[in-house]
Amino acid sequence: MHTPATFGYVATQLDRLGIVYLHVVEPRIKGTEEISHGQAPIAAQHLRPKFSQTLIAAGGFAPDSAEAIVAAGTPTSSHSGRQFISNPDLPERIRRGLPLNRYDRATFHGGNARLGYTDYPPAKATAAA
Ligand SMILES: Cc1cc2nc3c(=O)[nH]c(=O)nc-3n(C[C@H](O)[C@H](O)[C@H](O)COP(=O)(O)O)c2cc1C
Repeated sequence: MHTPATFGYVATQLDRLGIVYLHVVEPRIKGTEEISHGQAPIAAQHLRPKFSQTLIAAGGFAPDSAEAIVAAGTPTSSHSGRQFISNPDLPERIRRGLPLNRYDRATFHGGNARLGYTDYPPAKATAAA
């Protein structure tokens, strides 16, 4: 499959249909694994000229890299998966420049007494500890 051509065509056709947003995952992520360290957000860069409405990009963004790429207008906004799991107060932490909790991949899918979705401490509790 010619991935850039295929998805470029799809984005163009979705735009013609008036679809209001497109949410893409950068190919540097496969499932929950980062497979290409340091790769630019090539999906958003490729699709931006082909899709005129809201473009949301996910996959391997850190707060600073997300801010830079959104400020450059490549995607309209960015989305976080893993960082949101371990930081239920992620927007507040970013706003205040606070460090992020590290996620525990072993608890991503639950299955034991430690849920991993509800027991990460918010920043206030971290600072008080
Ligand atoms: C627990 C977990 C399960 C996921 N399951 C899937 C999945 O089944 N299919 C999929 O395409 N992406 C899956 N993803 C990837 C997310 O949809 C999202 O694209 C990705 O987490 C965003 O990248 P980031 O975690 O670097 O912010 C999963 C992510 C997490 C953390």
